[in-house]
Amino acid sequence: MRRFGLLQYPEKESLSKKIFNQYFKLSSINAKYDDIVIEPRKFDTKVTEYLESYDGLNVTVPFKEDIIKFISPVEDAREINAVNCIYQNKGYNTDWKGFYNSLLDTDLKLPILLVGAGGASKAIIYGLYKLGIKHLILVNRTIEKAFKLKDFFTTKIDITVESFENLKEVMKSSKTFINATSIGMFGESFNFSSEELSNLSLIYDIVYNSTALQKQALKNGIKLIDGKTFWYYQAVENLKIWGVYDEVKFYETFVNSKFN
Ligand SMILES: NC(=O)c1ccc[n+]([C@@H]2O[C@H](COP(=O)([O-])OP(=O)(O)OC[C@H]3O[C@@H](n4cnc5c(N)ncnc54)[C@H](OP(=O)(O)O)[C@@H]3O)[C@@H](O)[C@H]2O)c1
Repeated sequence: MRRFGLLQYPEKESLSKKIFNQYFKLSSINAKYDDIVIEPRKFDTKVTEYLESYDGLNVTVPFKEDIIKFISPVEDAREINAVNCIYQNKGYNTDWKGFYNSLLDTDLKLPILLVGAGGASKAIIYGLYKLGIKHLILVNRTIEKAFKLKDFFTTKIDITVESFENLKEVMKSSKTFINATSIGMFGESFNFSSEELSNLSLIYDIVYNSTALQKQALKNGIKLIDGKTFWYYQAVENLKIWGVYDEVKFYETFVNSKFN
């Protein structure tokens, strides 16, 4: 049996575990996907054990950068300085590629406002750069982290940092709004009025569950790309890298899963 898994901390039942296991079953692939929890202080001593015993791995918060010294990152993962997929000791970043692929049929209207400056945001900025976007506005609660990303991507994309307090104001003149924070995941919400959203043509909310923002987009007739769609596109890239991708079966599993 082939073994795949997700390195994470703290413990959280992942969408990947649920959907990949359903997919392996439906496709008669002899494989299993586990959620693997490692305490951050034990990461350096424990991780090699998993690298040796698993056929392929995903990596999430808080290990996407820490893993790099144990594997060989491919060029784009090195450029983002984050790895979320591993196969045969190579490290990939499928977040940016999934984000990129999810927008190939979308005419992105400018200006683009991105909220969040964590790991996912890094991959999204890189994806926007690869889509040919030259400028974006970045807002983060901790503004220093937004400036850090601006510096990190300075040769690739022009970033204007705005404070979290200015979010609603900046939103009014933006056309595309991307939420790459966890707002909406644990019950909190942005509390935008319909009027504040009225200039937008696209809301891209990467949170996995159905958030108040996502419901508002639908109610106001604004095109929505949600976190499950983002997950799907990056998951496809993982399966391709691991050599276990069946387009029809995976799509079927995804649309029939209880999460849709
Ligand atoms: N759909 C998918 O496939 C997918 C993939 C990756 C991630 N995600 C989701 O995307 C979200 C971000 O992931 P990540 O890996 O970037 O996490 P991360 O590195 O921990 O970053 C979290 C981000 O959310 C912000 N934030 C958290 N709570 C906030 C609040 N109450 N008010 C304002 N800002 C808040 C943080 O701001 P500060 O810097 O100020 O703390 C930071 O920008 C998570 O919900 C994650 O589950 C989804």
